[in-house]
Amino acid sequence: MEQTARLELKNISKSFPSETAGRIDILKDVSLTLESGCVLRLAGASGSGKTTFMNIVSALMPPDSGSVLFNGTDITRLSESGKDRFRAENVGYIFQTFNLLSPYSVVENVYAPLAFAGKLSGDYRKRAMQALDRVEMAEFADKLPYHLSVGQRQRVAIARVLFAGQRLILADEPTASLDGHSSGLVREVLLELSRQGAILIFSSHDTAFDLFRTDMTFNLETGVIS
Ligand SMILES: Nc1ncnc2c1ncn2[C@@H]1O[C@H](COP(=O)(O)OP(=O)(O)OP(=O)(O)O)[C@@H](O)[C@H]1O
Ligand SMILES: [Mg+2]
Repeated sequence: MEQTARLELKNISKSFPSETAGRIDILKDVSLTLESGCVLRLAGASGSGKTTFMNIVSALMPPDSGSVLFNGTDITRLSESGKDRFRAENVGYIFQTFNLLSPYSVVENVYAPLAFAGKLSGDYRKRAMQALDRVEMAEFADKLPYHLSVGQRQRVAIARVLFAGQRLILADEPTASLDGHSSGLVREVLLELSRQGAILIFSSHDTAFDLFRTDMTFNLETGVIS
């Protein structure tokens, strides 16, 4: 994994049509810069725009105005295939609704994204097994996602990020509906990824995250970055 990453948001605005108020502003002229190893927490009530923010920094959704630079490239201006490639190479997702691929086994799910991107090398199966072992899921390698509990699936999604080593990690409520043990594992691995030089952006209502290392908090409700 290349160790350095830099994410720069410049004057990002985003609004959505509202039935009552014309349009509602979700992001208003937001500028911030995150470097390798930086941890950003997104705070704010349900509907304040945390997921929208993550969609914009991963080029899943265009902002109304402003630019998002990842290592100097404005990802909002990439072609659709360029955006796909940007995500496959650089963005690791750990979402509440993790999207494991149902026809594939647990270990296949760990290396599938890099396989689709044509980027699997050498001993990939062994490395995928090591990532599964890190989240205590090696014994489930040949099971289908359907056979796993919610917490186990989330741990596979984490193993996938460990395996691919992307430099921008988006964790949207990563511990929702996990038990204490799985939730602790998730937090540990997120910190590990950050120590290895990833930029970590997370949202969580889980108070266990109050003790988590956080460099910056962006409150979507108030627009304050602290
Ligand atoms: N594609 C869209 N079209 C119209 N409105 C949208 C769209 N995506 C999000 N919104 C609206 O933008 C607001 C912010 O949504 P978002 O999902 O970002 O909130 P959130 O902070 O992630 O909430 P939660 O904590 O419930 O996940 C909501 O009012 C939502 O209805
Ligand atoms: Mg959300």
